[in-house]
Amino acid sequence: MNLEVILNKDQLTRDDLIYLMNLEDKEDLQKLYDKAYEVKAEYIGQKVYYRGLIEFSNVCVKNCNYCGIRKDNNKVDRFTMTEEEILDRAKWAYENNYGSIVLQSGERSDKEFVEFVDNIIKKIKELSNDELGITLSLGEQSKETYQRWYDLGAHRYLLRIESSNQELYNSLHPDDHDFKRRLECLAEMKEIGYQVGTGVMIGFPGQTIEDLVDDLIFFKENDIDMVGMGPYVLHEDTPTAKDVEDNGVLKTRNLNWGLKMVAILRLLMKDINIAATTALQALNPVGREMALKAGANILMPIITHRKYRTEYQLYENKPCIDEEASDCKNCLAARVGTVGDEIVYGEWGDSPHYFKRTNK
Ligand code: 5AD
Ligand code: SF4
Repeated sequence: MNLEVILNKDQLTRDDLIYLMNLEDKEDLQKLYDKAYEVKAEYIGQKVYYRGLIEFSNVCVKNCNYCGIRKDNNKVDRFTMTEEEILDRAKWAYENNYGSIVLQSGERSDKEFVEFVDNIIKKIKELSNDELGITLSLGEQSKETYQRWYDLGAHRYLLRIESSNQELYNSLHPDDHDFKRRLECLAEMKEIGYQVGTGVMIGFPGQTIEDLVDDLIFFKENDIDMVGMGPYVLHEDTPTAKDVEDNGVLKTRNLNWGLKMVAILRLLMKDINIAATTALQALNPVGREMALKAGANILMPIITHRKYRTEYQLYENKPCIDEEASDCKNCLAARVGTVGDEIVYGEWGDSPHYFKRTNK
């Protein structure tokens, strides 16, 4: 196979994707990243959109084997920000022209939680004259809940599938998790009218390059609007950590795989939103900038108050936990500048793919 030919194909086959995922030579990789950046520039522009990330609670009813805030990890101090604190952060995002925010937390679906979120969505819409876009990342919920949050004004939802391979999904989660329900949730969100985002973890124990290629094909087949996928990063106090043989090898490989996945996805789905995820930065100080250079177009600066950041550690070495949001703002702007992208302030930055898919 010839790299130049593949990079210029309109339709990539599964074999092409596997070939690209196996690239190791530095010059070849550069060609892949350059091509992906070229596609991004053509279809999205040399632009980066922000979503201010508010991680408002680390209380979680689930026990995902890889995650640092899983229910059974009793070393974590649990917190839930007050409504006032959350609104203060949303206001900060609005005043700093971030365009949109993401509300993320551990998973809960009890009535009290659902109503708490109802209220927050309503109030954020009010305080921003309906201008701030709201993306939710609150896990699996009933269709009714998805519908009411949509009706209240949330318009994008992120729910990672973690792995499109059911067996692997099962290996990552305790028995009470249901792969089929995850798929249904994505379908329900789409039916309701959300812009739908999903993603996977890259490089957890037992996952192969073929599995990752099938994840990319899954995004395509499901006509996904946005993808946030990041390298798996070890967290000591989790069951999955025990399956990691050499953390040094894992880190290097997963950064590498993470960047390749971003670039290949950009070739495969030219007009979707792809996030440069924080987990990349946990593996390399400029990991997210590298992803922007490889075709990603979304950054999610953490705007949670400093006092809560240390307790929202899904994996080790999570970056920016000592900074305050305003420090992050300047730091990020400087970093994005080095890539050659322009930060677009004050816009929702919806995925062009969504409008095409829905004929809006
Ligand atoms: N490494 C990388 N990503 C992780 N997540 C949870 N734990 C880890 C980890 N150890 C990701 C999952 C989840 C998202 C909120 O964080 O993909 O969907
Ligand atoms: Fe909870 Fe999400 Fe972590 Fe799973 S990945 S334990 S649902 S916070």
